[in-house]
Amino acid sequence: MNGDCPASCPYVSSRVDLLDFPLGQIHRISGGVGSSEPSSGGDVDETKRNILKLLAVAGVVGAAGGGLVGGTLQFAQPPVIGAKSYPKVQLLDVDGSPLTAKKVAAEYNVTTAELYLFNYPLTNEPNFLLNLAPATGGGPGATRVNGGVGPDGAIVAYSAICQHLGCPAPALSYYPPGTCPQTFGGKNFYIHCTCHGSTYDVANSAANLTGPAVYPLPQVTLQWNDPAKGGDDTLWAIGEKGPQPVNGHFDTLVGGYQVGNTVALQKQSPITPPACVFPGV
Ligand code: FES
Repeated sequence: MNGDCPASCPYVSSRVDLLDFPLGQIHRISGGVGSSEPSSGGDVDETKRNILKLLAVAGVVGAAGGGLVGGTLQFAQPPVIGAKSYPKVQLLDVDGSPLTAKKVAAEYNVTTAELYLFNYPLTNEPNFLLNLAPATGGGPGATRVNGGVGPDGAIVAYSAICQHLGCPAPALSYYPPGTCPQTFGGKNFYIHCTCHGSTYDVANSAANLTGPAVYPLPQVTLQWNDPAKGGDDTLWAIGEKGPQPVNGHFDTLVGGYQVGNTVALQKQSPITPPACVFPGV
């Protein structure tokens, strides 16, 4: 017996001959039983042939797989969602009634501690609505501010997502006068982020008072239908601007679903620090 072959096996004359083949190389000796090919002198390098077959199969599988993966990725990629342009959206009060400058003056002023938020232009982009006018009887406040609307030019709206690392309200909160006995930069009402301490000047286009944020909060462009000009006193959001888009969006108009034709204020409680938000200042 030679290996596992019977003594009559025409292919292997001895185990020693078998072991002479280089490891991994497969030879088929042509001219086997019943073959019309010559019995010798026609060796075929089966290794090369098998490698070529393997490459051909790999190419087919690769092409099919690539197409499959490409097709899958094409369908796996989420569609870009957002708004084509800034919509004109009417603001509603928390009770769903149309918000007017008269209502704002009656219900909100610079001392209002609660947060009043509305989403614009996308449903995942909250904004503060603030009336910086002094409370009835006077006191701290600001009028005729940049972008302010209403009879006092004191109604403004800013993004409620911090421009540092994106902490949203209520981590980012408005602090009215008296919240902290120690003011910063001469300001006694501001927006402050409890995440890392950024502070924004609400009376000056939400400019940075303290970092680590380096950009102001984007400001919503408001439209007031002035009754003195035949308007109905209603308030509308018609745009948003700033040197940077809303944090977390490479474009303020992209990355969420557009709000409807109206949007209502939502009330939230701010995160009230246990002590002064600027200890030691
Ligand atoms: S996320 Fe607001 S200060 Fe860092």
